[in-house]
Amino acid sequence: LGRRPALAHTAVLAFLLLSAAALRAVPPPPDTAPAPTAAAPAAPATEVRARIVALRAEIAHHDELYFRQAAPEISDAAYDALKRELAALVGCFPAEAATLTAGPAPLGDDRAGDFPTYRHREPMLGLDKTYAKAELRTWHRQLLARLGRHDATLVVEPKYDGLAISVTYEQGQLVRAVTRGDGAEGDDITANVRTIRTLPATLQSGSSREPLPARIELRGELYISWAEFARLNRALEADDEPVFAHPRNLAAGTAKLHDPAEVAARKLEIVFYGWGACEPAAAAPTSQRNFLAQAKAWGLPTIESPKLAHSAGELWSAVQKFDRERAELPFPVDGAVVKVDSVPLRRLLGETDQAPRWAVAYKFAPDRATTLLLGITIQVGRTGLLTPVAELAPVALAGSKITRATIHNRDTIERLDLRIGDTVVLEKAGSIIPQITSVDRSLRPADSTPYLFPDKCPACDTAVVQLPGESAIRCPNTACPTQLQRRLEHFAGKTGVDIDGLGPVTVTMLIDRALIRDVADLYHLRRSDLITLPGYGEKSADALLSAIDRSRHVTLWRLINGLGLPRVGMATAKKLTQHFDRLDRLADATYGELIPIVGNATARVLIAYLAEPPHRATLIALAAARAGP
Ligand code: IVH
Repeated sequence: LGRRPALAHTAVLAFLLLSAAALRAVPPPPDTAPAPTAAAPAAPATEVRARIVALRAEIAHHDELYFRQAAPEISDAAYDALKRELAALVGCFPAEAATLTAGPAPLGDDRAGDFPTYRHREPMLGLDKTYAKAELRTWHRQLLARLGRHDATLVVEPKYDGLAISVTYEQGQLVRAVTRGDGAEGDDITANVRTIRTLPATLQSGSSREPLPARIELRGELYISWAEFARLNRALEADDEPVFAHPRNLAAGTAKLHDPAEVAARKLEIVFYGWGACEPAAAAPTSQRNFLAQAKAWGLPTIESPKLAHSAGELWSAVQKFDRERAELPFPVDGAVVKVDSVPLRRLLGETDQAPRWAVAYKFAPDRATTLLLGITIQVGRTGLLTPVAELAPVALAGSKITRATIHNRDTIERLDLRIGDTVVLEKAGSIIPQITSVDRSLRPADSTPYLFPDKCPACDTAVVQLPGESAIRCPNTACPTQLQRRLEHFAGKTGVDIDGLGPVTVTMLIDRALIRDVADLYHLRRSDLITLPGYGEKSADALLSAIDRSRHVTLWRLINGLGLPRVGMATAKKLTQHFDRLDRLADATYGELIPIVGNATARVLIAYLAEPPHRATLIALAAARAGP
């Protein structure tokens, strides 16, 4: 990281901004380079080259995050802006670009390297993108010009925001599911895709006049609904795990899990919007409408309400209608896809290396606002996860007042070079948490200094750690008072042992006075300890003691959930109680015993957790404090 070289030359910066703005306003026709602007000669070649190198590196970095790690740090809009700036520079300065070894930034590649790969029979192309009415109009005009026609029937569909997938059926049987990969070859994730409940293993042939094709590649999108995204993020938050920024990351991360049982536990969904190779060729759909009807008849989830357009005017209304409707849709949509309906017309149009000429995406603009970054607070979670939070000057965004935004991790701060006092751009796509997507450097105070992420826990001063392969930073000290505070709050909370009256204020006092060093210490509190606390008298002390006493009787799963064991939420806690009727028995669980109950991955982390003497000691002490099993 830190690959973004500082562009000191303000003239160059102004030029770059100008050229990017010009490009956005007047889109170049496809297949042609944008014409150099009048300002072009003003930029020194070395600066241009440096910027091209920097952009390529930055795009490659985001491709890596997006396609391989399924954890992008910037919005699509910000990413697209980088790609356009690069295209503009390469277009304006072909000579400078040519002196650099790498070619234009290639299309992304989602292959993770740990799945078998499979070569698509027909490559999976991407889509050209448009962002403005004028760009869409230009696309439409060129389309008709190429066809030599006055009109053509267009089908407009929502652009689902997930992960592209190709599912092959042979004689009506599902045989394979492969990600896009680099377009030619993708990851074989068949076992994971088979867990999708709405995906039939066998196509319905029913009363259809057409026989089933011998083999057909069906193209679609894997995605996760807003509701499931919210449910899984709530569970992650409860486990003090980093949350997913967008359902797309969650869908992509889920599709690439190595445990199909875990995939099944998350509600991955699929929709089909097209097809690739088909044998025999005569069995292939003859139009988009024909395909959508056929997919539905086969029993496949497909686009339910496509819109039709026959002119530029109808096309623009259809696209706008989707933009208005998308807030109500239960799944994430980041644009509309426009396709020529007729397959014979598609053949006339053909395709470029990267995208068909018969289709285009129109990307919806995210809601945006600009505000001041007043400070960065580091929150310490129950398991020591450090989360940076941006404190913002209040600003309205998509109908709500925003004063804080999560900054995912230390890498995000470094990549954006976020500094306190900066003017930042916030974006909110769909119903998700606002994100800082860029910094307006022209408004940066002259005396600002880079933000230094603490290398010590702000609560206990212990040196922080970063596990290999993780972007999360953690405080490793299990005795950290803030971690203990969060653990106690979780333990005493509604989904834990539910101790009435043990709120954050009391917890803080108990920890500050060293009356509690571990959750099990709750059960050794005496009346004399509590009476001395500010705000406590005999009555309130007795009330808290009896609430603590009552919690000795709660059902075992509440106790287990309250402990906040790694990867153990309510559902897993309940499952565990079917096999372990006492906490000290759970403390002695073996890997072999746990696997059939919680699966491989969770069993491994749980065993590692229970192997730590302080953790074991807590479980045994709590077992002793319980009334009954
Ligand atoms: S058609 C050859 N239709 O958008 C063109 N794509 O950059 C095939 N997508 O990777 C794409 N919804 O995964 C098409 N209704 C839709 C879509 C859709 C989402 C995705 C697709 C592709 C990306 C285009």
